[in-house]
Amino acid sequence: MWFFSKRSAPINLGVELVVEVHNHVLPGVDDGARTMQDALQMMFFWAEMGYQKVIATPHQNTSMNAPEYRLQEAEAKLHAQLQEQELPIFLTSAAEYLIEPELRKQLDSLRTFGPKRYVLIELGFWMPPIGWEQVVFELQQRDYTPVLAHPERYSFADKQTMKKWFEQGYLLQVNLLSLGGAYGREAQAKAEYLLEKGWVHFLGSDMHHPSQIPLVAQALTHKAVRRHIPKLLNPTLL
Ligand SMILES: [Fe+2]
Repeated sequence: MWFFSKRSAPINLGVELVVEVHNHVLPGVDDGARTMQDALQMMFFWAEMGYQKVIATPHQNTSMNAPEYRLQEAEAKLHAQLQEQELPIFLTSAAEYLIEPELRKQLDSLRTFGPKRYVLIELGFWMPPIGWEQVVFELQQRDYTPVLAHPERYSFADKQTMKKWFEQGYLLQVNLLSLGGAYGREAQAKAEYLLEKGWVHFLGSDMHHPSQIPLVAQALTHKAVRRHIPKLLNPTLL
């Protein structure tokens, strides 16, 4: 039996974002939620915030590569718990792919979300993988729509780089955790800059653990977030 404290006045800050698009809520499949209780705490948070749907995006790379049946099993178990808890929130799953040579082997069977076959991709934090733009092109050729995760977190990407990405038509997903200051002032400032410029297509939490809930909640009250929510594509995923 899981135990959760009831909060007296839900603030429903996610009610306009509606759909949570980047997180590691599936328990035991990557470096995210370790237990079902972790996962349920995160799901309760999103439900309390007013989200209607959560798209789980477990890591898929050479070091975190849970096979398809384990991802499906984790999703099914969490889904069953949501029903038992009568939590009114829809769960589905895709993945977060690191752009690396091995990815080429699975280009025909990537886990996608949304009506445009969105694929969430990430780069290394300190150096862009050689030839990654070619991989993005190959994804587009296969009728996927790549979404670049947390552009604000790449230390090699300055404002000019992020501008170039936006102008090239890359869809950009900024982390609420960046806006909450989880990765330091530089990532936070870049995330704020991207929002102010109107270059953000999706906001997602990238939450790995319930201990990050307060920072995500704080980010949802961020002035720039409140101002730019109407321009985001999150609600199109409902
Ligand atoms: Fe992530």
